[in-house]
Amino acid sequence: MNKKIIRPKKLRGTITPPGDKSISHRALMFNSIAGQTAHINGILESEDIHATINCLRQLGVAIDLQNDGSCRVKGSGINGLKATERDLDCGNSGTTMRLLMGLIANIDGTIRLIGDESLQSRPMERVYSLLNTMGANIFSEKSNGCAPIIVAGKQLTSNQSIEMTIASAQIKSALILAGLNSIGTLNIIEPLQSRDHTERMLSAMGAKINIDENNITVYGETNELQSIDIDVPSDISSAAPWIVAGILHPDAEIEIKNVCVNQTRSGILDIFLEMGARIEIMNKRLVGNEEVADLGIYSSSLSSINITQEFIPRAIDEIPLIALGACFAKGDTKISNISELKVKESNRLDNTIEIISQFGGEIFSNEDELLINGLNTLHGAKLYCGSDHRMTMLAGIASLLSEQESELIDVDAVNVSYPNFWNDFEKVCVS
Ligand code: S3P
Repeated sequence: MNKKIIRPKKLRGTITPPGDKSISHRALMFNSIAGQTAHINGILESEDIHATINCLRQLGVAIDLQNDGSCRVKGSGINGLKATERDLDCGNSGTTMRLLMGLIANIDGTIRLIGDESLQSRPMERVYSLLNTMGANIFSEKSNGCAPIIVAGKQLTSNQSIEMTIASAQIKSALILAGLNSIGTLNIIEPLQSRDHTERMLSAMGAKINIDENNITVYGETNELQSIDIDVPSDISSAAPWIVAGILHPDAEIEIKNVCVNQTRSGILDIFLEMGARIEIMNKRLVGNEEVADLGIYSSSLSSINITQEFIPRAIDEIPLIALGACFAKGDTKISNISELKVKESNRLDNTIEIISQFGGEIFSNEDELLINGLNTLHGAKLYCGSDHRMTMLAGIASLLSEQESELIDVDAVNVSYPNFWNDFEKVCVS
């Protein structure tokens, strides 16, 4: 699909973004190794989540997706997953592949994990090298640290402290899952706290985990996890395009409903509030074990700030859109310590520069930093969007804010995380 986009006169309306992708993956995986049946409402129905569902079904888990968007998962028990001869295809989803490594590290048998071209170029050794210190036998088939990944199941032992060098919820979650089913006690230390959905959900399921900010202790030999029903809130990463569009468009009032504002995810709100944005955080409430709120977003004038290391894990997937926001701020913005952007679904450091530059933004990189000169205006562009969902949404929002018409070619990658993105786009634009 291609799109021609002209800046609308106004942005108005209410959006309920789709279910949180991180919580959806976890709700499926963790309930798969629990003891009873769980109902999950509001699960994200997208290509990444279908990859997780298909892999879990191949491992023997009964998962029913209902027409009303709800889902039923019949847990197989903590040791109940069954090895399969067929490859597990994780598609484009890094979360699926990395968390599965921890989930099946001790399975009885050998499993091969594969993925699409993007996933095959992403680093997996950062996960399996740590799991292998616990006795796992996981390796890259081509010995290049990337997929295909072979998991030859082994009994794991912990009784050690693992100091992670990257703040990554995917690595941390794989270690926690492996730790649950190991002999001994595992201590995990993160350099900075990454998203904590795993810790919250597993604690609610009765796992023996102790959390002290970025220091986590997992007590192994877990016999059973309780299945839990989960209402998945909207994904702040899918709210992010509307947050940025609403702040930057000169005539905007948008309400975004039911957003997960867990403080390990809400860096985008803190960053824009510090830059002077008019964001209202309304009806804050706890849903399950997660904080949820509705957001009011209004046209704003921004001032530049330095976005430093401590913000990054809390806003990692939103950095490209935050960089777009900085194009409209008064002054120059620096975003530091973002080398992780290079190993996402695409090299998002290079692609953010490429896309924003095509719209006339002044944006540069310096090793692992982005430098953005505030300009207050972008011009139209014609560009090919490619396979990265978040880059496609970035191009969509940049077009919506540009002075002239833009033409975007091949915009379907949004299906990875936000299949309804272009419908919501039409819905908020008033011409
Ligand atoms: C995710 C964690 C983040 C994020 C990704 C989803 C998760 O990756 O970028 O989109 O669900 O755990 P890292 O943990 O590698 O930073």
